[in-house]
Amino acid sequence: MLTPDDRQIAARLRQTLVAAGFTADGVLNLIGAQAYSALSRDEFVPARRALRGTVSVLADLVRLFVIDEMIDVDQLAPGFPLDDVRRLGLIEGAEQIHAVVDVRPYGEPDTDWYVVSDHSAGRGAMAKSEVDPDHVLGVGGASLTLARITPRSRVTRALDIGTGCGVQALHLSRHCDEVVATDNNLRALRCAALSAALSDCEWDVRAGSFLEPVAGESFDLIVSNPPFVISPGRRYTYRDAGFPADDLGRQLVADIPGYLSRDGVAVLLANWLHVQDEDWRERVTEWVTGIGCSAWIAQRDVQDPTQYVGLWLRDAGDAGSDQDERYNQWCDALASWRTEAIGFGWIVLATSDRPWIHVEDVSRASRQPTGAEVLATMQALTVCETTDALALLSSRPQIAQGVVVRSEDHYVKSGNWASGPTLLSTPEGWREDQFLDVVTREFIRRCDGESTVEGLVDDIAVDLAMDPDDVLAVGLFRLRELIAQGFVVLP
Ligand SMILES: C[S@@+](CC[C@H](N)C(=O)[O-])C[C@H]1O[C@@H](n2cnc3c(N)ncnc32)[C@H](O)[C@@H]1O
Repeated sequence: MLTPDDRQIAARLRQTLVAAGFTADGVLNLIGAQAYSALSRDEFVPARRALRGTVSVLADLVRLFVIDEMIDVDQLAPGFPLDDVRRLGLIEGAEQIHAVVDVRPYGEPDTDWYVVSDHSAGRGAMAKSEVDPDHVLGVGGASLTLARITPRSRVTRALDIGTGCGVQALHLSRHCDEVVATDNNLRALRCAALSAALSDCEWDVRAGSFLEPVAGESFDLIVSNPPFVISPGRRYTYRDAGFPADDLGRQLVADIPGYLSRDGVAVLLANWLHVQDEDWRERVTEWVTGIGCSAWIAQRDVQDPTQYVGLWLRDAGDAGSDQDERYNQWCDALASWRTEAIGFGWIVLATSDRPWIHVEDVSRASRQPTGAEVLATMQALTVCETTDALALLSSRPQIAQGVVVRSEDHYVKSGNWASGPTLLSTPEGWREDQFLDVVTREFIRRCDGESTVEGLVDDIAVDLAMDPDDVLAVGLFRLRELIAQGFVVLP
């Protein structure tokens, strides 16, 4: 993708960019917090206003590569790396220049990276009302979700399927010895290669469809933010995979296990249909049945067909009126698949000798989990799914660290209080609070890591004057759920 000369120029340019303060912190300090956060909404006026009258290499870099302004060469601040950005093909023009791509400082607290992508639609020096079919997306909400939920344990080999601008590969390069990044869009691969070179990273960038470029290889970690949108046709490479309905997700989870190493983990984003008279859980369970991996499928959002079509049409800069032919065609396609709604979520696969499947809705979670919390969830689910009823009875559960039990009594009148529900929560955690029924509350109060579940059942039955079989039925079911959610652990 890049010649050795290109790489040398990129390494030099990186030094110039960092020295000029063209970093996430540097841009934030220059234009201020409001203008900076407006950039992430593709609103550039505040940044333009903040830069009025400022003459510096940093201000010119922001004008050119972030705001996408046309600039007179003779107005550039002294020291601007004109030759290097031209030789790397980042700009066009002679007396007046504009950026061919968006170059955005990005990073973690102790790293400065650059993400190279296309400019978004409808703005900038050479504004187009619609993006091209091979448009290369910059860092978006889905990219950040995947980056956040990916476990960051040190591994040898990692694969980023559909790398685009390379944002996932940047994160992988911090904890993976070797990073392979694939995409079937050659322009995306060029952007990814530039992101790597400007960020002082080295990846093996390969052209081809999904797993094709890595046939016969295996990886410790596979991540993918694929073109998961359920749409008719193949309008945009970044969005539409061209599979009917939600078959892309089904296909990826069927194929990925064959590329995972012995302790391999894969994390991918997906959309799935909620089909009339079908349970969405059964649909996605079927996707991961018999694939030889344990699978955690979490649904974080659900949209009805009109919300969904409107969202993706707006995302591509299309008008969203119901007169729009594209809107109609899309609705027709969803209707032909008997779509009631569309679920958004993530799928985590882990190679396993005793595979389990856990499907849940996490749309009421207080936030999205971090990679470490995803790993902890996979461990909790493994314990939960591989501990049978007998083993659970003789186990000695205890409350996980940081868990809080709250009783929400409410004031009635004249100094009287009514008992409200008891809630289990982790103030620092990501899970939604859990309401506790009377039996489960008693279990929770007594889970000390020393008493067995069997012993607890008898004590609780006596205290609540209940039949032990009833206590057992409720207790085992809820205990299992609370173990799966990480509120209770089996030492
Ligand atoms: C939603 S973008 C994700 C980009 C980036 N990984 C991120 O997290 O922001 C999906 C990417 O998948 C790529 N893609 C689409 N179809 C593909 C295919 N058949 N094989 C490989 N990559 C594909 C697109 O070119 C695009 O770069």
